[in-house]
Amino acid sequence: MEAYTLDWVQLVIRWVHLITGIAWIGASFYFVFLDLSLLPPKRKEDADEGVGGELWAIHGGGFYHAQKYRVAPPALPAPLHWFKWEAYWTWMSGAALFILMYYAHADLYMIDKAVADIAPWQAIAISVALLVIGWVFYDQLCQRAGLDHEPVIAVVMVAFLAATGWALAQVFSGRAMYLQIGAMIGTIMAWNVYFVIMPSQRKLVEAKRNGVAPDSVYGLRGKQRSVHNNYFTLPVLFIMISNHYPFTFGHEHAWLVLLAIGLLAAYVRHFFNLRHTGRTVWAIPVSAAIGALVLAVAIAPAKPKAGTYTFADVQEIVAQRCAACHAAKPTQAGFNEAPKGVLLETAAQIVASAAQINEQSVLTKAMPLGNLTHMTDAERATLGAWIAAGAKAD
Ligand code: HEC
Repeated sequence: MEAYTLDWVQLVIRWVHLITGIAWIGASFYFVFLDLSLLPPKRKEDADEGVGGELWAIHGGGFYHAQKYRVAPPALPAPLHWFKWEAYWTWMSGAALFILMYYAHADLYMIDKAVADIAPWQAIAISVALLVIGWVFYDQLCQRAGLDHEPVIAVVMVAFLAATGWALAQVFSGRAMYLQIGAMIGTIMAWNVYFVIMPSQRKLVEAKRNGVAPDSVYGLRGKQRSVHNNYFTLPVLFIMISNHYPFTFGHEHAWLVLLAIGLLAAYVRHFFNLRHTGRTVWAIPVSAAIGALVLAVAIAPAKPKAGTYTFADVQEIVAQRCAACHAAKPTQAGFNEAPKGVLLETAAQIVASAAQINEQSVLTKAMPLGNLTHMTDAERATLGAWIAAGAKAD
């Protein structure tokens, strides 16, 4: 019952995380599109009033006319819509999920004893510390580099995240390393909204209220972080779904795979941002697709090798290493049903799951989770030999 309740709690939080994440990223896509598509105002009165750009759009059966002021309109309009709760709720629900899944089951999801034999509290401490360190590093970098050195910020951040990924690969399981980097980027994005973008906007509004001309630097600071967030979106979305793909996080050099995919994703985001300004550079998606293809070939797992096995060996290995969790009535504490509905008890179930067993336990070491049941490489090779020979029961 307890695990069942937890499943519901997770379902609801995950759902909220998706909904608010879509709202947030959707707004990010929309406003970056809007900003980059603005044209100088057609009417002289608008330009005189401080309008810097405008855009016409048609959507859902209506015409829209948006105008952006160079700094602020002459009088503070009411109501004025703010966009922040989608960011806060995405972060809060993400943090809750991370705690419920990863921190509460650090032994399963974060620790891989073959990588490093650390205690759950150590894994959690590293994770929390890095969430804060990631933000401080990025925020200091932006403050020091100022508003005119975007390429420097980009290069330093990529190097920082790559180094963090490499370092984490020495202490965490592959999938936890991916999620940790995702959580760090997500935290930077949400804290950008909370600590920089909202305060900048408040300064603009406050100046208007006090009847003084607002300093345009506040708008520019907010804009800088907002654009960074936009480039982070696609890499973060990949990380959110990455744990379905063990050929990424389960690779020997998983941190390099993540780096490559993250760079390709940001590069594709750049294509869209250029396109909004009226420049369509097809070379970007084409080279990104070629890059993805090269990556796919480079990380393709080797086929399982032929070798000696008997089906009795296979059954024995699966019974010892998998069935504690993957059974109708799991004996592993904390599980009250087979995870993902994958049952590995009978010969027929094992044969039916051969392709999945291959993906999770032979080509990669994604399963057993955290290698909690101490599966050996020789056993993986035996399963591989059985799969290479056609995965039949005798
Ligand atoms: C300690 C418990 C545990 C053990 C032992 C274990 N698994 Fe799993 N397995 C899980 C959990 C939890 C999931 C769901 C993971 C998730 O949420 O992504 C899972 C998921 C799977 C999936 C579905 C993956 C997907 O995303 O569709 C397969 C296949 C699988 N395990 C195979 C195995 C095999 C083969 C073994 C033995 C070599 C094994 N597991 C051992 C806990 C375990």
